[in-house]
Amino acid sequence: MDLNEAVAFVAGGGGGFGAATARRLHAAGAKVLVGDLDDVKGKAVAEELGDGAAFVRTDVTDEDSVQAALDAAMELGPLRVAVVAHGGRGGKRILDKESKPAPQAAFSQVIDIFLNATYNIDRLAAAAIARSEPLAHGERGVIINTASIAAFDGTIGQTAYAAAKAGIVGMTLPLARDLGPLGIRAVTIAPGTFLTPAFRDADPDELDTYWGKAVPFPKRMGRAEEYAMLAQQIAENPYLNGETIRLDGGLRFTAKGGH
Ligand SMILES: NC(=O)c1ccc[n+]([C@@H]2O[C@H](COP(=O)([O-])OP(=O)(O)OC[C@H]3O[C@@H](n4cnc5c(N)ncnc54)[C@H](O)[C@@H]3O)[C@@H](O)[C@H]2O)c1
Repeated sequence: MDLNEAVAFVAGGGGGFGAATARRLHAAGAKVLVGDLDDVKGKAVAEELGDGAAFVRTDVTDEDSVQAALDAAMELGPLRVAVVAHGGRGGKRILDKESKPAPQAAFSQVIDIFLNATYNIDRLAAAAIARSEPLAHGERGVIINTASIAAFDGTIGQTAYAAAKAGIVGMTLPLARDLGPLGIRAVTIAPGTFLTPAFRDADPDELDTYWGKAVPFPKRMGRAEEYAMLAQQIAENPYLNGETIRLDGGLRFTAKGGH
């Protein structure tokens, strides 16, 4: 797909992966609608990009809010790309140190923000992309979801997060099959550990050293720009479809993550 003609909606566009992807798609010629719950971060990204970029405060868990952001994206032109890169928090061992079970609500909250909200964006974005005229060869657009390598090798305390991310991996092929007749692709990125604001309080050098030991090569955490490079390739390469791509330097989590 030629990004010069494309409008991209980036959910979580004020965050690490989202902002890097918004910058990269915009540099490649796309118009970008940055959607984020955090107006300060989201607005800053849209203002930095300038022409051909806009921000709409978006709560990815809310149908009306996502639809309003997509409506604003479609005002920029035909929507072709939806990137799902919002964040969330949570994670508990299934039993605590006194062998008390984790609250069911804690599991549901993690599923809501990561899995249910991804589906919410996917279904509404698919409907918006379906309204765009097909390009040459029949392609209309692409949905790019974000899983995690925790979908495959989740660590201690990650039952909910791993389940949510595995759900996104599981959705990927049926999404591609559902949407193939409309010329819409679906691809998922499963990142390893990346130096983004998601690691709010930790020292970046210490993080890089700690995680780098566990990564075959390069011996450091990933950079959001590397996620964005892959997102751009997924958008541009029409033969990538129905697949989850690990982006992890070869990292495989142990029970405790890195070591
Ligand atoms: N950073 C990593 O190492 C890593 C690894 C694997 C997977 N991931 C996944 O990548 C995604 C993005 O991670 P990141 O590191 O860029 O996180 P981040 O914390 O840098 O950014 C997440 C963004 O999402 C926004 N957000 C949170 N809740 C929202 C909501 N309800 N509606 C709209 N926006 C909301 C936040 O305001 C923030 O700007 C997450 O799904 C995360 O699980 C991250």
